[in-house]
Amino acid sequence: MSRKPFIAGNWKMNMTAASGEKLIKDLIPLVKDADCDVCLCVPAILIPAMTKAAAGSNIAIGAENVHWAASGAYTGEISADMLKEYGVKYVIIGHSERRQYFGETDRTVNKRTLAALNAGLTPIVCVGELLEERESGKTNEVLDRQLAEGLKDIEDITKIVIAYEPVWAIGTGRTATDAQAQETIAYIRKKIGELFCPKCAEKIIIQYGGSMNAGNCKGLMAQNDIDGGLIGGASLKTDFAAIVNYNK
Ligand code: 13P
Repeated sequence: MSRKPFIAGNWKMNMTAASGEKLIKDLIPLVKDADCDVCLCVPAILIPAMTKAAAGSNIAIGAENVHWAASGAYTGEISADMLKEYGVKYVIIGHSERRQYFGETDRTVNKRTLAALNAGLTPIVCVGELLEERESGKTNEVLDRQLAEGLKDIEDITKIVIAYEPVWAIGTGRTATDAQAQETIAYIRKKIGELFCPKCAEKIIIQYGGSMNAGNCKGLMAQNDIDGGLIGGASLKTDFAAIVNYNK
């Protein structure tokens, strides 16, 4: 079963309208012949300007979070329909930084994911273990919980993307080895097969994230179960194009 690779950037709380627009304009000619799907997930306030900058190119624009309610008294939050209105295609849900600093739980990840799917957005659901969890042999147990609870009640699991981001590899320059990333992502795929269906497990796109860059992307992308990357720091510069073009 062939899965189309998917390379996405996560700008986090970086860039301005001017620097973001310049980067997108610089990236467009560099990524235009990509064999993979390409997306940049950007801060909510930059979405209108970045969708405009990327219009007509193969760069899709994504958001970094979404609320689960359609509307209502949720000061400071943004709904899936609001994102759709501005041309957003993807939304990151449950990033470890949101779990760590903003009280995100598997339950809220689940609610956000269902709302995003309901609105026709593609959720990029992040899972991954802390360093102490890996070192104490709890990685699979943590992933079991994040997947079972975070993905509950999803009708068609192939409509989401999973990003495996070991927390110890994010922003640290310490990437998982090719073998570690492959082993864990193969485990996630097997678990999706058990929780949903074996055919869905073959189809679902699973990315790796955590200090992925132009130097290490080839090795990671060569692994059987790794279908793409969720790129933080390296998506803030034209290096992102080298990752998108990992196979050229
Ligand atoms: P870095 O690529 O900066 O390690 O960030 C990864 C990440 O968190 C993407 O969501």
